[in-house]
Amino acid sequence: MNILRTTAAALAALALVSSCSTPQLRLKPGNIDKIIAALTLEEKVHLVMGTNLKGFSDSAEVAVAGYTGKLVKGSAGTTYPVERLGIPAIVMADGPAGLRINPLRDGDSLTYYCTAYPIGLSLASSWDNELIAKVGAAMGHECREYGVDVLLGPGMNIQRNPLCGRNFEYFSEDPLLSGLSAAAVSRGIQSEGVGACIKHFAANNQEINRMYNDSRVSERALRELYLRNFEIAVREADPWVLMTSYNYLNGVQTSEDRHLLKDILRGEFGFDGMVVSDWGSGYDPVAQIAAGNDNIQSGSLKAYNAILEAARSGELSEEDLDYCVRNVLELIVKCIRYKGYEFSNKPDLARGLAISAEAGAESMVLLKNDDATLPVLRSQKLALFGTTSYDLISGGTGAGDVNTTGTVGLVESLEQEGFCCDSTVAEAYAGFMKAEYERLASINAKRSWWLGKIRALEMPYEAVKALAQASLPGNDVAIVTIGRRSGEGTDRHIDDDFNLTAEELGTIRAVCEVYHAAGKPVAVVLNIAGVVETASWKDLPDAILNAWLPGQGAGIALAQVLSGKVNPSGHLPVTFPVAYADVPSQNFPALNLFFDRNHSWFHYETETPNIDYTEYEEGIYVGYRYFQTKDVPVSYPFGYGMSYTEFVQGEPVVKAVKGGWDVELSVKNNGGFGGRHLVQLYVSAPEGALDKPARELKAYAKTPLLAPGQSCTVKLHVKRSDLASYDEASASWLVDAGDYRFQFGSNARDIISETVVTVR
Ligand code: BGC
Repeated sequence: MNILRTTAAALAALALVSSCSTPQLRLKPGNIDKIIAALTLEEKVHLVMGTNLKGFSDSAEVAVAGYTGKLVKGSAGTTYPVERLGIPAIVMADGPAGLRINPLRDGDSLTYYCTAYPIGLSLASSWDNELIAKVGAAMGHECREYGVDVLLGPGMNIQRNPLCGRNFEYFSEDPLLSGLSAAAVSRGIQSEGVGACIKHFAANNQEINRMYNDSRVSERALRELYLRNFEIAVREADPWVLMTSYNYLNGVQTSEDRHLLKDILRGEFGFDGMVVSDWGSGYDPVAQIAAGNDNIQSGSLKAYNAILEAARSGELSEEDLDYCVRNVLELIVKCIRYKGYEFSNKPDLARGLAISAEAGAESMVLLKNDDATLPVLRSQKLALFGTTSYDLISGGTGAGDVNTTGTVGLVESLEQEGFCCDSTVAEAYAGFMKAEYERLASINAKRSWWLGKIRALEMPYEAVKALAQASLPGNDVAIVTIGRRSGEGTDRHIDDDFNLTAEELGTIRAVCEVYHAAGKPVAVVLNIAGVVETASWKDLPDAILNAWLPGQGAGIALAQVLSGKVNPSGHLPVTFPVAYADVPSQNFPALNLFFDRNHSWFHYETETPNIDYTEYEEGIYVGYRYFQTKDVPVSYPFGYGMSYTEFVQGEPVVKAVKGGWDVELSVKNNGGFGGRHLVQLYVSAPEGALDKPARELKAYAKTPLLAPGQSCTVKLHVKRSDLASYDEASASWLVDAGDYRFQFGSNARDIISETVVTVR
């Protein structure tokens, strides 16, 4: 408050002495040209960057030094206010799984907790744009009621390699699923009058050396994968903001890349929002503004002086500076602060939790279910193994983290659903975890919130075996939960991360040996932030449920699916390979350099492959595009997901219409449970001028809940332009003539039926 008053007073005083002040002029959607004409050069430079300008010393600007985070504690950045022209500061805050602000404020008795929603990877597994938009709207509601103008999400980089530490924030290995999911979240957020910010543009696919790494990507792979998802989100949802990335792309830092931002993003994709830099990214602020990176966050005195100097000397044209100022102002007039919305600081968190749990449950993927092990019956007694059973993970760390009142646990949720969970096993785990956290206390004390705490490991095989044996007489079903978290700033490892640890494998093995010997089933729950190895152990348990990181209502969501209250209908948005060695991008740096002084963020070498530069050697063959085309067996294919019921898909009817094809097919629930079915349409192209993947996802749709015996008709549409590939030689999109097979699959590997469509 003090800062605000000081700012207003200082700026008002400044206005009196400013020769270009126009007292009556106030920012309005229709007068941006006039406002630009009335702004001083200094004000314009302030407007194109954040307010984190530590070191300012003259009286007016002292007020904005350290302004960032002051309007809403724990937000990421603000724009600069020019009170005399009615230009308020607007607030931007993370992130993709829900709003991240400080939950507590000094001298304030109120709390500012937010809801953690399912991670992006989880949301995409629902393949349900309506549900995803509902989650976006719930996130937008919390932003609005806490006075946040722009939410810094969704994150939407393509999951090129399973080891990227931020994959959990992103949606998929496929650009259509990624683009439509991002569009749905953005639409939802913006339906609440809050701006969505799609990020990180573009080819930001590894965390290691992320501020210096140069992603070297062919034009075709860029157009068809790494830019394509952003193009879809821009066209479908018109997001108010787009964030450029930390990395270089083909030698140019993305926030300094005029061709990328002005020709491609705005010229071709039609983006008309504000472009913001990632926090602290870019090396030449003048180049950033000239490139059309409208707002540099979080701002610095050095950047301010450089831009001012360049604008004065003519090195930075007035036209380029005004262009960015205009985009900033056009965003501001859409925002709640400009509109004077009186936020309550009391969002409906109970509703948030309910939506989080609903979306978490709808996104779970049933990977295996022999002998209808799941759902479990209320008459069956349950024994829960694995530390994660008692410490569910709601989301990842870093900018994608959310400050919540806590994650709803599995035991309490199962008990609320009427189940009985073995308390002796629970007590044994409580004792083990207490000892683990004591052992880790000194390491965890030194770890920042940003990295998150190191989690308890698992009990050794013998201990689990003894515990399982002791639990056997009183229980009917064992559930083993395996947990993985990951986060911003580091990538994952192959050992003990992508691959399960010896103790995790030992836990699954011990429980299966003991329970199977007595003819009792075992279900494994995966509470994971990304793809893990499953091929070596998936034969052991009877059922496997992939819950991903389902948000704050994790326990509720899991209990609903385990009990059959919700029939799982999620499908994998990424491939689970047999082994890491099968992944096409083998040049991904499988080492963690975060704490390595020789390769810290501020040390730049240009020599080290995959650290200083990464060749995207696999081109367009990412994920299932690679596995299906090269016939490499996988553990679970892209699009895979089972149900407690069975569906029958009718023969598709494909009709040529202007500019494309309309497709209709019937779906019938032939089993005993109500449930939802996903129709996936892949297209296999004829041989033509360009190399093509075996098949590519071109459309999908989820049915409503179908009762046993109930049918519905599903409609899809494919545009002719959806069949195009990018031809580098002519720098254009080409649709080869020939026979295209429209393939309806239960996943990218298993095709149920196909229809040939001829293109002339
Ligand atoms: C992350 C962004 C985030 C920003 C602001 C950066 O470290 O890469 O995704 O929005 O910080 O917190």
